[in-house]
Amino acid sequence: IFFRKTKMAAAFNSSFSSGFGVGGTSASPPTSSLAGGLSGYNASGGANSFGSTSYSNSTTASSIAKFGNGASSFAGASSMSPPTGAAGVAGVTSGEWDLSNTKQITNEDAESMPKFEVTRAADGSLTKAAEILNKLGDSWPHKFAICHSAKVNSYYLMAKVSQPLSLSDAREDYRKFDKSNGAKAIKTRNKEERQKNPLERQLQKTLVGQKNAILSVSGQIRRKENGWHSSNHPLVFLFLGSSGIGKTELAKQVANYIHGDNAEGFIRIDMTEYQNQHEVSKFIGAPPGYAGYDDGGQLTKRLRRCPNAVVLFDEVEKAHPDILTCLLQTFDEGRLTDGKGELVECMDATFVMTSNLGQREIADEAVRVRAQMKDSQDPDAIEPIQDSFKDKVIQPLLKHHFKRDEFIGRINEILFFLPFTHEQLKALARADLTKWKETAYDRHKISITWDNDVEELMVKAYNLRFGVRSIQHEVERKVVSKLAQAHENDHIGNGTQVKLACNPNIPGEISMYKVDTSKADK
Ligand SMILES: Nc1ncnc2c1ncn2[C@@H]1O[C@H](COP(=O)(O)OP(=O)(O)O)[C@@H](O)[C@H]1O
Ligand SMILES: [Mg+2]
Repeated sequence: IFFRKTKMAAAFNSSFSSGFGVGGTSASPPTSSLAGGLSGYNASGGANSFGSTSYSNSTTASSIAKFGNGASSFAGASSMSPPTGAAGVAGVTSGEWDLSNTKQITNEDAESMPKFEVTRAADGSLTKAAEILNKLGDSWPHKFAICHSAKVNSYYLMAKVSQPLSLSDAREDYRKFDKSNGAKAIKTRNKEERQKNPLERQLQKTLVGQKNAILSVSGQIRRKENGWHSSNHPLVFLFLGSSGIGKTELAKQVANYIHGDNAEGFIRIDMTEYQNQHEVSKFIGAPPGYAGYDDGGQLTKRLRRCPNAVVLFDEVEKAHPDILTCLLQTFDEGRLTDGKGELVECMDATFVMTSNLGQREIADEAVRVRAQMKDSQDPDAIEPIQDSFKDKVIQPLLKHHFKRDEFIGRINEILFFLPFTHEQLKALARADLTKWKETAYDRHKISITWDNDVEELMVKAYNLRFGVRSIQHEVERKVVSKLAQAHENDHIGNGTQVKLACNPNIPGEISMYKVDTSKADK
């Protein structure tokens, strides 16, 4: 026992002496507080009493107090059973993250390194950071972490206890950081990277039309990346529009922009699977003693693995009201409580809900806006949706459906996905034909060209209910399957040039002509 207490004293000692840097004050602790920490060995909160007596009204009080708490659970856990109910790093063994090796650094120092954004600072933000780091385990491969505390709006450098704290070590450590290795870790793109590859450009490369939505989303994401957003709530979008016009695709592309090919950066939840009240447990995990307890919730489990994921709630209007209550808590507080009663932090997540609500009204509005823009020659012009349309048509519709004003109030931006114009549909047909042209060449060395009226024919298949997929299916049915058959029968093959055209005798059919290259070669 004596030996353990000695170790404890050492732990508290080092924690306290550097712990003050954490809180951002320079006062040194009165010696009596150490005794407080020691006597609090068995009952968590000894260190706590120090914080609350000496610093009860300062802004740093709660972080110091919690820090004390965390330290006591930390030390306690390494030598005896973990304390119950402690908010600190319970269950942590030595050599892991705590707050004993932490110092404040400048914004410039923090800018270029991957960070934790500990924006949820309700109970001592840096304690939280240590907790998260410990939970991440190997997916945070550094010995160092840069943590941002929204509470005091400052950056801190944190190191594992056995490491000496030095900024140059941290830089070196991060330099060795292998992207694939650290993909799961919370990463923010640095400024240079953002300027080189603006989100708008990436989105416009993959999506036809939907310029309003692309620009709004990019603007919001940029504000967040640059720190021009409210740090009290996560970012929440509602994408409205008919099926198959790019809502899911846009969310996916945003995830791709933020997380690259890390699959955990995109969480898609089909809300049609959550239409009944009992499905809440599938969402956030079942409470202890219930079936499925060990599985965890679809949302909470995945958010824990990637707290700044892009989370898509598809067809949100289908969800049960109790699920919406979960969502509201999440959107409002930036965290949610799972079935086990544990908090899942998600202040840095980007939430996207999609819905078909109002699709008819939006289509009508698009017709009206486009009629007004007729004079404009610019095919790329933004199609401005009036605020009055949002206020008078969409808001009442959403209120009627969701019944709850506060739910709608927590949405940062409602974005409208407009039906495609004829030109946009042709661009979509062209993009799909081009995709197959590339496949044909890469796999079979077959070259393909086509007439303008082939694109027109594909556009005719467009069906509002299925969106872009109806064009993709038409291309497969009328073009790709024919090519495949001709290839199978050796009519075309390596080196063949094929021209596609509308069949003059059978309306709606495509004909293939083999271009004779032998003359050209000679
Ligand atoms: N605006 C668009 N530009 C290019 N492709 C699109 C666009 N909208 C839809 N698509 C294509 O159609 C598919 C289905 O679109 P999706 O985004 O899932 O539609 P929804 O609006 O129903 O979420 C996408 O995977 C993509 O291939
Ligand atoms: Mg979708």
